[in-house]
Amino acid sequence: MTDLKALETDLLSQIAKAPDGAVLDEIRVSALGKKGVISLQMKTLGKMSPQERKEMGPALNNLKNVIGAAIEEKKTALEEATLEARLATEKIDVTLPVRDIKRGKIHPVTQVMEEMTAIFSAMGFDVAEGPDIEDDFHNFTALNFPPDHPAREMHDTFFLEPREGEDRKVLRTHTSPVQIRTMMNQKPPIRIIIPGRTFRCDSDQTHTPMFHQVEGLVIDKTSHMGHLKGTLEAFIKTFFEIDNLETRFRPHFFPFTEPSAEMDVRYERVGNEVRIGQGDQWMEILGCGMVHPNVLKNCGLDPDEYQGFAWGMGVDRLAMLKYGIPDLRDFFAADFRWLEHYGFDANDQPNLATGLSG
Ligand code: DAH
Repeated sequence: MTDLKALETDLLSQIAKAPDGAVLDEIRVSALGKKGVISLQMKTLGKMSPQERKEMGPALNNLKNVIGAAIEEKKTALEEATLEARLATEKIDVTLPVRDIKRGKIHPVTQVMEEMTAIFSAMGFDVAEGPDIEDDFHNFTALNFPPDHPAREMHDTFFLEPREGEDRKVLRTHTSPVQIRTMMNQKPPIRIIIPGRTFRCDSDQTHTPMFHQVEGLVIDKTSHMGHLKGTLEAFIKTFFEIDNLETRFRPHFFPFTEPSAEMDVRYERVGNEVRIGQGDQWMEILGCGMVHPNVLKNCGLDPDEYQGFAWGMGVDRLAMLKYGIPDLRDFFAADFRWLEHYGFDANDQPNLATGLSG
């Protein structure tokens, strides 16, 4: 009996220590296999006296059951541990953000163009585009710039080397030539905005040789200066997200509009910061006016029948003001740290329903 107790203790401790299924199976064979210790002991039952057998029979059976159950239990535990280990090492946490990949940012100019487009789309404007390389006719002549008029020089135009037999081309100095292209190809009513790149030979803190404009054009039979003011005031309040933003219209001169004006917004400078909408200073934001009858005529429209208004504004400048970006030249320096700081998340799509600036 004591032998059996010692055997049970020994086997149970071997089972407990078994590191894996293979070792456990060896223990099983050595105890319960055909030639295992327990099986061999059972074979001796036949030679025992009935008295001995009566005692040893149930004891051996019990030992066999205890060891069998212990092996089964250990087997299950080992299998579970193996599964756990596999799950732990092969785990992919799909909720983790991607590491070591720099995410792209949307440039403030792109973002502000999208904001402007969202605002004017809601008012019913379509988007029109035209080429960056223009001819003299679309950039100047059709817009009522007289030949050899100093206004052509006013724009610090980049002229391209003329090709054989062709007039010299220019990098467009403003988005206004797309007004001409639209009016020559499309019957009124016209209600468009024209976002695009523009070029002038100029560079300082608030000027770069390439910059961006959003032009606007409305042509129909009834639109007047009041509509122009209403449209631009509504736009600027929505753009800056300031309800009581104050504007003023100052008479100005452009060859392609009559009357012409510039629109200013009230602002103040506090330290290095420019605050839009309050204060006692005025900042020029855009040029505008009623489309000149000569421009309508140049596009084949009868000025006695049609009329309308137009404007042009600098996108980069409005982006600087809205997002407090101090130097325009940084916009085009392609400095990744700058873009990381001033750029926008690609998911941050401007729309009027959820708020413009996210
Ligand atoms: N083209 C002008 C510029 O670049 C801006 C402008 C002023 C556009 C008045 C217009 C306008 O359409 O009506 O300075």
